[in-house]
Parts: sequence; structure tokens; C-alpha cells
Amino acid sequence: MAVMKFFLDTADLTEIKTYAVMGLIDGITTNPSLIAKSGRPREEVITDICDIVDGPISAEVISTDHAGMVKEGVELAKIHPNITVKVPLTGDGLAACRELSEKNIKTNVTLCFTAVQALMAAKAGATFISPFVGRLDDLGQTGMELIEDIRTIYDNYGFMTEILVASIRSPNHVRTAATLGADVCTVPPKVLGQLLKHPLTDSGLEQFLADHRKSQS
Ligand code: G3P
Repeated sequence: MAVMKFFLDTADLTEIKTYAVMGLIDGITTNPSLIAKSGRPREEVITDICDIVDGPISAEVISTDHAGMVKEGVELAKIHPNITVKVPLTGDGLAACRELSEKNIKTNVTLCFTAVQALMAAKAGATFISPFVGRLDDLGQTGMELIEDIRTIYDNYGFMTEILVASIRSPNHVRTAATLGADVCTVPPKVLGQLLKHPLTDSGLEQFLADHRKSQS
């Protein structure tokens, strides 16, 4: 039976450490925007992340041409065996994905917005496909329908590419992804925090502690 994995979608080391001690983090995804937010060079941040989390760590290429992406991907993969090279869902990106897969380097094909794009990525040998559900919701579409379609297509043909649900904005996205049988959810720290919370947990704990104090006085 497959286990649903949780990746944290961040390059913030403090957030990563916070959730890593709870045993909740199976991997990390980053992108150029998240790395830019850290204010540090990509290689440095990625190396630090690999020291904290023992699982797939996605590092995204900046090149947009096939040869450039492969060169960059090969360099990134040297940082640590857990590195997963993230490439965009373009023709060059898929060519790079194919070549990196042949070199036994794990790949994450990102910026997926249609089920047929996901099918192409699987055929190119992607380890993970990253459909961006929140950005589709932003356009008035239902991002989760994409996850349902990809699950059906991959199961129809036995593709081993893992569905890594990205651009998650709420606990409800996580609930639906789990219901649909997605392999991985990559969640921003804010949403991971929300997943743990319930007002009845807080008020219940407060009540237990108040009763304990009363019994001691
Ligand atoms: O992993 C991709 C994800 O970071 C994109 O999220 O919220 O920028 O759409 P968002």
C-alpha cells in the first residue's frame, strides 16, 4: 500500500527545521522564486536543506534550453544523492528530463496545467509531475479535476511518475488530493501549520489544563 508523502514547498531553513522535528516532512520542493526569497545562492541553500531532510529535494534549473538544463541538472545532482532536478514543462524541458532520467538523475517536471502535459512528462520518464492546482483555481477553473484526470491516465497505463500536487493553498486541497490518490502534496509552511490546527483542539486543551489547575488548588 502506497504512503502519501508530504513535501514542504519552501527554501526557509527555519520552517523546514520546525516541521522536520515533527517527522512530517518527506522531501522539499523549491523554485527560483522561493530561492530568491531566501536571499542566498541556490547551491548553498540546497546543500543546507539536504543536511536537514532525508528525502527528495527539488532544485530547479534556470536554463531554458535542452543542453543548458542537462548541464545544470548534472551539476545540481552532484550536491547530494537526494537531489531531484526540476525542469519546466516545455519541449526542451522534456528532452532534458529524458536525458537526466537516462543518467539515473531524479526529475520533477514543473508548471503542469493540463492532463496531456502530464502524459507527455510521464512518457519522458519524469520521476514527479507537478500540477499547479492553486494557479488553475485562480483562473476560475477547478485545479483538482486535473489531479483526478492525471491519476486516471497514469493508472490506465501503469506510469510510475508520481503525482506531486503543487500550488496548494488550503487544507481542503490536501484533503482532496489524498482522496484522489495523489502521491505527494507539496505544501507551503502556512498550510502545513493550518493542517494541524482545530479550534476544538485548542479549547479542549485549555479546559483540561484549567481543570487540572483547579484540582491542584
Ligand atoms: O511548487 C510550486 C508552487 O510553489 C507554486 O505555488 O502558490 O506560487 O502558485 P504558488
